[in-house]
Amino acid sequence: MPDFSVHVGSGIADADVIAVYESVGWTAYTGEPEVLVRAIRNSAFVVTCRDGAGEIVGLARAISDDATICYVQDILVRPSFQGSGAGRAMLEAIQSRYRHVRQTVLITDNGPGQRGFYQTLGFTEGSDFSPEPLRMFAKFR
Ligand SMILES: CC(C)(COP(=O)(O)OP(=O)(O)OC[C@H]1O[C@@H](n2cnc3c(N)ncnc32)[C@H](O)[C@@H]1OP(=O)(O)O)[C@@H](O)C(=O)NCCC(=O)NCCS
Repeated sequence: MPDFSVHVGSGIADADVIAVYESVGWTAYTGEPEVLVRAIRNSAFVVTCRDGAGEIVGLARAISDDATICYVQDILVRPSFQGSGAGRAMLEAIQSRYRHVRQTVLITDNGPGQRGFYQTLGFTEGSDFSPEPLRMFAKFR
């Protein structure tokens, strides 16, 4: 099982940020690297996983008012480290930091992998909420 350590903070070299987003093929971000770097710097909470050599193998970030809501914007793990617990460690770090807020929300791709991951971590998809399903709206530029 690959070994990693968890680090909190957005002080990450720009090239390292771009490399980890490239590793999962998120071209919507890597196509505008200066926007991605600004997004990381301006996020309320950033957590990374690093391997033994200090290389970033995972990153997650949250947007929050630190009172009522925490929005998990990104969580990504290099393919070679997926399944090693890095995603869980980073999401738990976000949940621990924002344990006082009522709502933790996110939007993600419609794949079975994402559904399985978030359900394992205790999240409920909006359409499965009880007694009433939740409705999610989004508008992308
Ligand atoms: C989704 C992602 C962040 C998960 O990170 P990961 O490090 O591979 O996941 P972990 O090893 O920490 O798994 C945590 C738990 O989720 C479960 N899980 C992970 N992927 C799963 C899947 N595809 N189906 C079902 N369960 C899954 C694991 O079984 C594990 O459960 P356990 O801790 O009880 O054993 C990672 O696969 C990834 O970066 N994917 C590409 C980018 C992406 O889609 N990000 C999410 C959208 S924002």
